[in-house]
Amino acid sequence: MPEASANIGVVGLAVMGSNLARNLASREGNTVAIFNRSYEKTETLLSEHPEAEFVPAATYREFADSLQKPRTAIIMVKAGRPTDAVIDSLVEVFEPGDIIVDGGNAYFPDTIRREKAVRETGINFVGAGISGGEEGALLGPSIMPGGSDESWVTLGPILKSIAAVAEGEPCVTHVGHDGAGHFVKMVHNGIEYADMQLIAEAYDLIRRGTGKSPAEIAEIFAEWNTGELESYLIEITAEVLRQVDAETGQPLVDVILDQAGAKGTGAWTVQTALSLGVPVSGIAEATFARSLSSHPEQRAVSGDLPGPEDEFTVEDTESFIEDVRLALYASKIVAYSQGFDEIRAGAAEYDWNIDLGAISKIWRGGCIIRAQFLNRIADAYQAEPGLPVLLTAPYFTEAITRAQASWRRVVIAAAEAGIPAPAFSSSLSYYDGIRADRLPAALVQGQRDFFGAHTYKRIDKPGTFHTQWSGDRTEIEAEDTH
Ligand SMILES: NC(=O)c1ccc[n+]([C@@H]2O[C@H](COP(=O)([O-])OP(=O)(O)OC[C@H]3O[C@@H](n4cnc5c(N)ncnc54)[C@H](OP(=O)(O)O)[C@@H]3O)[C@@H](O)[C@H]2O)c1
Repeated sequence: MPEASANIGVVGLAVMGSNLARNLASREGNTVAIFNRSYEKTETLLSEHPEAEFVPAATYREFADSLQKPRTAIIMVKAGRPTDAVIDSLVEVFEPGDIIVDGGNAYFPDTIRREKAVRETGINFVGAGISGGEEGALLGPSIMPGGSDESWVTLGPILKSIAAVAEGEPCVTHVGHDGAGHFVKMVHNGIEYADMQLIAEAYDLIRRGTGKSPAEIAEIFAEWNTGELESYLIEITAEVLRQVDAETGQPLVDVILDQAGAKGTGAWTVQTALSLGVPVSGIAEATFARSLSSHPEQRAVSGDLPGPEDEFTVEDTESFIEDVRLALYASKIVAYSQGFDEIRAGAAEYDWNIDLGAISKIWRGGCIIRAQFLNRIADAYQAEPGLPVLLTAPYFTEAITRAQASWRRVVIAAAEAGIPAPAFSSSLSYYDGIRADRLPAALVQGQRDFFGAHTYKRIDKPGTFHTQWSGDRTEIEAEDTH
């Protein structure tokens, strides 16, 4: 039987798991046990990284025996059934009080189910969202753990030691119980979709409006990255636009097929928002824009549909680019505001006590949406933890006040030019909807009452009402059937 020398273990040694294991091993005081279903990956990691002094295991039993108690193991395998298979195997060899962490991209209802099932054995189960891709796993990711308070006591210091650091603070916090961590990671990814789509729309409008080359637009993004838009995604956009294809000498962006892929977290965010009744229109449009791009057969037969007659040319290039920058900023504020709404609604639905300010802080480093701007979100929630609409925090109200005329000009220009800008325009519609005194929802209620007797409320007196549409059209008091 091996000596129980490791204080943490990793199961699953593909790119994410092996990088996370190396990150753990590089931190003072950690000895890391490793296990992979097929032993070749374990051998490769051992031979390539002797400095990590890993403790290898060939079986789950050996893996459990090599861990000090309470045993703590992080699973980094394919989400779905592989994760269930690994959990089942670990439960067989672990004991009450031990901790199993799923660091994969699990769908949060699966995490809730798994946490409940594992808890019955006395073992702790923690679903932890880990963002930052391979590089983050190695150098410091943003980590969003759920699970019990008891597991956080053991796990907290370990996760803090490997997380990214932003302004001196580790990018990890105990998000909430059971599936809270994976829920927040899901919304993080949804916001990432929106942010990427908004940047893509800005690029498209500038390119088609001004005729600038990708390399020239890269300089614009690099410049934007020195101001209020400073973020990892703006930074890498400049890098991608600067890249020249070695084979053709063309800008790389011009030889990449324009069909965007997705692994499903954007769709999960939107599906969940729909069932919670939270409008995340920026994330939804971004997800749908990827879907639209990925139907070549439909695009092929639609190419001859008419567009605007006039060519799109911008008269004042500099002010148009500034308008696009401000439209991007305002739309981005909307997308984040909507994402935080979804987290708040999820917390209420699933009874999680989530500190929204703390979430924005742990996204400042390590993850894909890391940005300066997240400090402003943290400030807003610190000043008013119950803030119902992020947009109404003074900093964001000022930013949108400054941006809104540009935002409207850009959406008008896009519509007139026949350039799709679904995330820009839906964000503006959301903004105008949420600030409206009165919405045409009143008419929708009237229609619902007409065909389905769904009833309505009145602005001038309490109660629920129905108009007898097929009779004499008098109004009667009715039961609330909402
Ligand atoms: N790649 C990223 O940038 C990224 C970012 C964030 C989160 N994640 C998440 O991190 C997790 C790991 O990602 P990855 O890209 O490193 O690996 P992956 O390709 O998603 O999964 C490969 C790993 O899963 C193991 N595996 C598959 N089926 C198994 C089963 N039935 N039983 C036991 N092990 C099984 C494989 O073992 P064998 O070697 O034996 O096949 C291998 O270790 C995933 O949940 C992923 O969604 C990935």
